[in-house]
Amino acid sequence: MRSPTSARFNRFVSTVGPDTPRTALDLGYGMGAYSIALARAGFQVVAVDQVPSTPFLQRLRDQAEPADRVEVVEGLIERHPIAGGLGVLVAKDVLHYLAPGDVEALLVQAAAASHPHGLHYLEVFTDISRTAANGGIQRIEGEADLSADSFRRLVERVYQGWHVSLAWDAHAEQDSRTGLNYFEALRATVVATRSTPTRKDAR
Ligand SMILES: C[S@@+](CC[C@H](N)C(=O)[O-])C[C@H]1O[C@@H](n2cnc3c(N)ncnc32)[C@H](O)[C@@H]1O
Repeated sequence: MRSPTSARFNRFVSTVGPDTPRTALDLGYGMGAYSIALARAGFQVVAVDQVPSTPFLQRLRDQAEPADRVEVVEGLIERHPIAGGLGVLVAKDVLHYLAPGDVEALLVQAAAASHPHGLHYLEVFTDISRTAANGGIQRIEGEADLSADSFRRLVERVYQGWHVSLAWDAHAEQDSRTGLNYFEALRATVVATRSTPTRKDAR
């Protein structure tokens, strides 16, 4: 697998309890590593990305085992209708690309569509700074442009009544040629649980 899943995500998947339906939605699947991990963990997965679906479909065929548990959808995640009774939502390193307003609208829709024992796993970049090759600051028009504070408030609004854990890490990506950081951000990891976790789950 070219893109392994994060340790946090692996922990998250291993703690999903038996009351949560084995259905998952992976928004912005990219190389598909998270969808495959979910399928291998026994989930029926819908994987959505704007990129052509053929390469991922081919990879799934090559991997035989979880292929029949992944439905690949080519399209925009903010336009994807979410079916009710959803067990697990995964949105990793994708929500920052959305237009302002679309992040909250999408998460509100996903929260409403979630099963009473549903869980959401999000990794979201905030306070993004991109440096162009000439050393200037690069701005991408139309992106969510979240700050840590605005994202924290958004999470509080969307997940009222849910149990939420929020962790922060500094993230940087380096140009291997120049050794300079071209992408710096704070990464928020959100695990939101619709039902109150039992003492055993919370450990
Ligand atoms: C940085 S990759 C993350 C891939 C994967 N979630 C992971 O963490 O390995 C972001 C992915 O989101 C997709 N993406 C970005 N904006 C999107 C949108 N509005 N609708 C659908 N896919 C989108 C990109 O095509 C890309 O595959």
